[in-house]
Amino acid sequence: MKKLAGKVAVITGGSQGIGRSVALKMAQEGAHVCVLARNLDPLAQVIQEIEVLGGKATAYAVDLQAHQELENVFQQIAQQFGQVDIFAHFVGGFKKFIPLEEITQTEWNEVLQLNLTTAFFATQKIVPMMNNQGRIVYMGSIAGLGPNPNAKSYLPYGVAKAGMITMVKYLAKEYGAQGITVNCVSPGTTATPRVIAIRGEQGIQDLANSNPLQHVLQPEDSAAAVMFLVSPEAAGITGINMNVNAGSVMN
Ligand SMILES: NC(=O)c1ccc[n+]([C@@H]2O[C@H](COP(=O)([O-])OP(=O)(O)OC[C@H]3O[C@@H](n4cnc5c(N)ncnc54)[C@H](OP(=O)(O)O)[C@@H]3O)[C@@H](O)[C@H]2O)c1
Repeated sequence: MKKLAGKVAVITGGSQGIGRSVALKMAQEGAHVCVLARNLDPLAQVIQEIEVLGGKATAYAVDLQAHQELENVFQQIAQQFGQVDIFAHFVGGFKKFIPLEEITQTEWNEVLQLNLTTAFFATQKIVPMMNNQGRIVYMGSIAGLGPNPNAKSYLPYGVAKAGMITMVKYLAKEYGAQGITVNCVSPGTTATPRVIAIRGEQGIQDLANSNPLQHVLQPEDSAAAVMFLVSPEAAGITGINMNVNAGSVMN
C-alpha cells in the first residue's frame, strides 16, 4: 500500500531543486501532486516525469510573490480538489550575495517576501482546505540558525529563514487542535542548480569537506526528511525544525 494513496499534495516550487525531488517522491507514494512554479517548461518536465512513473500531477504556473496570483491559484485548487491533505512550500532562496552597505529596501523586501511572506499567505489559503487534518512542511535553512561558521552567509535570507523557523511554532500551536501538523526542514548547502550557480561546484565541495559527515548534500537528503514529516509515522511531531546539514551546525 502506498503511504500517500488518495492524498492531495500542494507543492510550491516543485519544478526544480528540493521541491522537484519531493514532488516526484510524493507522486510515487500515490499522492495527486499539484506543482506550483512560475516557468512553464520545468513545470511541464516534472509533470511528464511523474506521469512516466505512473503518478498523477497538475501544473500551475504562478508567481506567488504577486498576491492576486497567489489568491487566484489557491481558489482554483480549492475548486478542483476541495480538500488538500499536504502542503509543502519550497519557494525561497536568494540570487546573490550583496554587501550589507549596498542592500536596498527593494532587495530586503524581495528576499523577505520570497522566503517568508509567500509562506504565510499561502498557508492562510490552504488551511481552510484541510478540513481538520493535514500536514504542512516549510523549508527553513541552516542560515536561519545564524551565520554559517564555514561559509559566506546572507543576512536578509538568514533573517527570513529565522522567521520561518519561529512561524512554524506559532502555526503548530494555532492549528494543532485541527489535526494539522506544521514543521520545518532546514537544509545546509545543497547541490541544486540555483545554489551551484551561486557557490560553484568547487565551493559546494569545499563546504562539504568542512562538515562532519564530509557529505555533499543532495536534494534527496532534504526530500527524505519532508517525506518522513508527512508520513503516518510522524503523526505526533509538530512545531519542530529538522536540520539536514551534514552536521555543519548542531542545535
Ligand atoms: N539549495 C540549498 O542549498 C538550500 C539550503 C537551505 C535552504 N534551502 C531552501 O530550500 C528551498 C528550495 O531551494 P532550492 O535550492 O531547491 O531552490 P530552486 O532550485 O531555486 O527552486 C525554487 C523553486 O521555486 C520556484 N519559484 C521561485 N520563485 C517563485 C515564485 N515567485 N513563485 C512561484 N514559484 C517560484 C522555482 O521555479 P520558477 O523559477 O520557475 O518559479 C523552483 O521550482 C528554498 O526555500 C531555499 O531557501 C535551499
